[in-house]
Amino acid sequence: MTQKIIIDTDPGQDDAVAILLALASPELDVLGITAVAGNVPLALTEKNARKICELAGRPDIPVYAGAARPLMRELVTAEYVHGKTGLDGPDLPEPTMPLQQGHAVDFIIDTLRSNDEVTLCALGPLTNIAMAFVKAPDIVERVREIVAMGGGLFEGGNTTPVAEFNIYVDPHAAQTVFKCGRPITLMPLDVTHQCLTTAKRVAAFRALGTRTGEATASLLDFFERFDEQKYGTDGGPLHDPNVIAWLLQPELYEGREINLEVETGSELTMGMTVADWWGVTDRPANVNYVREVDADGFYALLVERLAKLP
Ligand code: BDR
Ligand code: CA
Repeated sequence: MTQKIIIDTDPGQDDAVAILLALASPELDVLGITAVAGNVPLALTEKNARKICELAGRPDIPVYAGAARPLMRELVTAEYVHGKTGLDGPDLPEPTMPLQQGHAVDFIIDTLRSNDEVTLCALGPLTNIAMAFVKAPDIVERVREIVAMGGGLFEGGNTTPVAEFNIYVDPHAAQTVFKCGRPITLMPLDVTHQCLTTAKRVAAFRALGTRTGEATASLLDFFERFDEQKYGTDGGPLHDPNVIAWLLQPELYEGREINLEVETGSELTMGMTVADWWGVTDRPANVNYVREVDADGFYALLVERLAKLP
């Protein structure tokens, strides 16, 4: 039995590696990829998604463009991390596969209405998913599960002192999604900061000797330079592939069900994930908040799977 997923994403080097991991994994049936504005504007994220499908030899995957800006706030991008294309690093060709007609939000709605047991994998700001839930509330109960990268508690923020990028960019969308009532697993910075792209780990991708291995190593070489400088580590955190790895090998992770709310009122703490890890409120649990990862196991999975791609 394969697991049906939609990947909602703003590629982004780490989004790219997450997409590659999904496309390399026979347990997952990628029904489509929906692009959202985030790391870079929408025109680039949708193009980058198509570049990655072609890199993986999968031009058959439908890619849709979604929201060009957050629900309520101005778009904030992160070229200072990802470069001006969002996928700086390797020299990937311009995609030739088409962008699908229609809006990503409508694709999400139609796909959930016509398929059972679809999991939503959220790798960027949650705008598209929140819009789909607001436009078509009937689809919410049809979602099997949402697995998202975002937020942080023990590590603080990476965009403001308390806010992680995906949640900061569209806190209203995040709050809508976290309150939807369906099972949600969250991969926060507390996990992704354990997954450093050390020189040895990046070398293992290059050693695959394939175009995907080489491109992955170049993506990560570029991606890590900002965080290496910031945190003084060997390599930087690798965020988004944790969403896909959790679907494939949940035993690599440990977390617990807690209540999590998103700050949308205060400009100072905008986008903070107020995670009640210690259960100091009686607010009901709404997320499986993951806190620990077997980072070596995570990289072993990535290398094993990416080796299957051209
Ligand atoms: C998240 O923001 C983006 O920079 C990454 O792609 C990841 O989804 C990390 O905060
Ligand atoms: Ca992302």
